[in-house]
Amino acid sequence: MQILGIDVGGSGIKGAPVDTKKGQLLAERIRIKTPKKGEPEPIAEVVKQIAQSFDWKGKIGIGFPAPIKSGVAMMAANVSEKWVGLNADELFTKVTGCECTMINDADAAGLAEMTIGAGRGQSGTVIMITLGTGIGTAIFYRGQLLPNTEFGHLEINGQDAEFRASAFARERDKLSWKKYAKRLNRYLNTMEKLFWPDLFIVGGGISKDSTKFLPLLTIDTPVVAAQLLNDAGIVGAALGALQK
Ligand code: BGC
Repeated sequence: MQILGIDVGGSGIKGAPVDTKKGQLLAERIRIKTPKKGEPEPIAEVVKQIAQSFDWKGKIGIGFPAPIKSGVAMMAANVSEKWVGLNADELFTKVTGCECTMINDADAAGLAEMTIGAGRGQSGTVIMITLGTGIGTAIFYRGQLLPNTEFGHLEINGQDAEFRASAFARERDKLSWKKYAKRLNRYLNTMEKLFWPDLFIVGGGISKDSTKFLPLLTIDTPVVAAQLLNDAGIVGAALGALQK
């Protein structure tokens, strides 16, 4: 089946049609800057613009940086508060004229990696960590997702983990890879002690630089870079809509 996958991020909104059987993009993705303030209507307009540029009439899957229950964002860490409580599936469907389904962005990336990326065939406990504006988590056991986990907000030393160890935090604090790896190691070590996973998959835009920081990690659990890099969010959003 073909579903338009959209990845809503803090700085950009990306989309492309996805072949959900192969998990592959069917055309070059389009990226449009996320409207300032990240409010619902302007974001829905961007999704409409992306759908129109592919002349899209079918289903749309949308990955969004918040926990999502039946199309409704439950909280807003890095997005406008206006999303909370709003039925986004209905808004996107109304604005685009296509059937839209929204899921958490890290869950989307995890679904993609488990299906055709670094987690393929992994049957134990796998934790996907996305490092971007925030930290997203997706936990899988025997290939099954436990949706909407929010362990990027784990409190470590009195601070929200994503405040210290997201890709944004590395840039904000102008950290060397060595210093950043130390923070990430602390975070992964805390997660390791809570879940005893068999594998961590690290994704998000920063995963393209994985050779600069993954070798510096000292935790026991194997850590690999996401294989779909920036496409995981788009592919996974489409897979999420397919599952619905
Ligand atoms: C949000 C999560 C999201 C993550 C990555 C966090 O701030 O609470 O829902 O998955 O950022 O975008």
